[in-house]
Amino acid sequence: MKDDVDKPSRPQSQTAPEQAVPAPGFPATRLRRPRQAAWSRRLVCENALSVDDLIWPIFIIDGENKREPVASMPGVERLSVDLAVKAAEDAARYGIPVIEVFPNTPNDLRTADGADALNPDNLACRAVRKVKAAVPEIGVMCDVALDPYTNHGHDGLLDADGRILNDATLDVLVQQSLVQAEAGCDILGPSDMMDGRIGVIRQALEDGGFSDVQLMSYTAKYASGFFNPFRDAVGSSGTLTGDKKTYQMDFGNSDEALREAELDIAEGADMIMVKPGLAYLDILYRLKSHFAMPTFAYQVSGEYSMLMAAVQNGWLDGDRVIEESLIAFKRAGADGILTYFALDMAKRLKARS
Ligand code: PBG
Repeated sequence: MKDDVDKPSRPQSQTAPEQAVPAPGFPATRLRRPRQAAWSRRLVCENALSVDDLIWPIFIIDGENKREPVASMPGVERLSVDLAVKAAEDAARYGIPVIEVFPNTPNDLRTADGADALNPDNLACRAVRKVKAAVPEIGVMCDVALDPYTNHGHDGLLDADGRILNDATLDVLVQQSLVQAEAGCDILGPSDMMDGRIGVIRQALEDGGFSDVQLMSYTAKYASGFFNPFRDAVGSSGTLTGDKKTYQMDFGNSDEALREAELDIAEGADMIMVKPGLAYLDILYRLKSHFAMPTFAYQVSGEYSMLMAAVQNGWLDGDRVIEESLIAFKRAGADGILTYFALDMAKRLKARS
């Protein structure tokens, strides 16, 4: 009976077998009607992907005219700064609004305190400066975290027992933020998950004359197995000792993401982010619904690699599943997506228009 529909406690055994009872609106309502022609499907389409939604993360290496494939991310290469500039030009030509640069710091520069993060001539800063000089119309984003610079692969400083020193790390993250802002970075993305980082970085930017530098907080960043290919790309998978569970979130948690977001917003984040992406669409939906902030999803390295592995095996059709996976983020409420497919997708969007 109709009245029973919303009673979840009704035991399964008492449920009568489903009768072919027409829905009350049928046949006046036929949901298949608007699906019959491409023009009509286009007309009623609720969510679409635009190049304006894309942020393209790229990996930087030392040297000149150098490119290195990332074995666990087929199709992704680490680029020397000169080639990163070319990549930025490409991105701008296809209308991508923002690229994010991730350095693969030479191993001999990785130290316990991650000092190279504060070097104004480190790989990330050089890439930012060169890209902004050559392609001023593109936004450049930088990660704020110590993992590409530390010889233990962690995002923060460690004490003698290997525990993360939250507040001491904040001081370094503030310096790193200022160095990257000075280099010309437009958006800082604190990805370290230390408590209190957004507030101190925002304050330092204000005090340092960088009040226009935006903060996209990695707000709900989970301790995820999906980051492994990224750690290959930046060269920290070999160095990482232990895991990141004392600072990145437990993947069983959902309410906690709201608390993280509440703090980041109060501390001055301009945009918030959920990471990883596809396995966390529920978190994205909750944050966007609850806070109505500019909200982003990071389709992380492992998601890229999973799709590419299947595509390369001929098991999935890349032309279909890449866009489908990106639109899922839009449907869940994302204002934009960080994705290694960005250039590829931008090219396909352009070819279509
Ligand atoms: C570093 C950082 C990571 C990613 C972005 N910034 C890795 C990590 O936290 O271990 C992951 C991105 C990806 O997997 O594509 N703090």
